[in-house]
Amino acid sequence: MGHRIEIMSGEHGRQRARHLLDTVWSAEVLAALPWKEVVWANAHSRILVFDGRDDVIAHAALHLRDATLDAGPVRICGVGDVATHPDCRGQGLAGELMRRAVTEMRDTHGVDFGLLFCEPRYAPLYKKLGWRAFDGEVHAEQPRQGRIRFGVIDPFVFDLMMAPRVGMLDLCGLPW
Ligand SMILES: CC(C)(COP(=O)(O)OP(=O)(O)OC[C@H]1O[C@@H](n2cnc3c(N)ncnc32)[C@H](O)[C@@H]1OP(=O)(O)O)[C@@H](O)C(=O)NCCC(=O)NCCS
Repeated sequence: MGHRIEIMSGEHGRQRARHLLDTVWSAEVLAALPWKEVVWANAHSRILVFDGRDDVIAHAALHLRDATLDAGPVRICGVGDVATHPDCRGQGLAGELMRRAVTEMRDTHGVDFGLLFCEPRYAPLYKKLGWRAFDGEVHAEQPRQGRIRFGVIDPFVFDLMMAPRVGMLDLCGLPW
């Protein structure tokens, strides 16, 4: 049977996607990640792919954020927690999700640019989908440390009204 895509609020979507997210990021997987101590932001909304049995088989979180680039205000849409169920990988679901994420950030939210963070092994996937490396500095907040340089994972930009490649980007909140 075919699949369908739905966009839900961050919290409702999190509940629907919980089984998928717990499968992809099990306690064992999380413990081995270099950013296991990072405190992440809550998503504004989530894009979910459902299979014919109404199970969530792929997921991406969207984060709308008023941030600053070189101290000037910018409106960003972040994409995080991109995940496809292990049994459904290699079928283009993440690509479909990411194209929908771009439609949302451009047409629904009218942001200046998209921003995601990814492990080096996934960079080819995002580059193929039109995302470009951001070579500037990223700062974010963490509960106990306050404002920190966020360099544990690589930033990628999707160009919309702006196409930043360098500069000082302050997320003005928790990262995603
Ligand atoms: C990354 C992930 C979401 C990809 O999901 P997927 O649904 O299998 O991806 P797709 O089938 O849509 O692949 C999209 C494109 O990326 C490529 N791709 C997929 N995984 C890749 C990888 N690990 N490395 C390089 N390219 C990859 C595919 O070849 C495809 O290119 P094509 O369209 O030219 O064939 C999935 O592997 C996953 O859930 N990983 C674990 C969670 C995770 O670490 N997510 C964080 C990513 S930053």
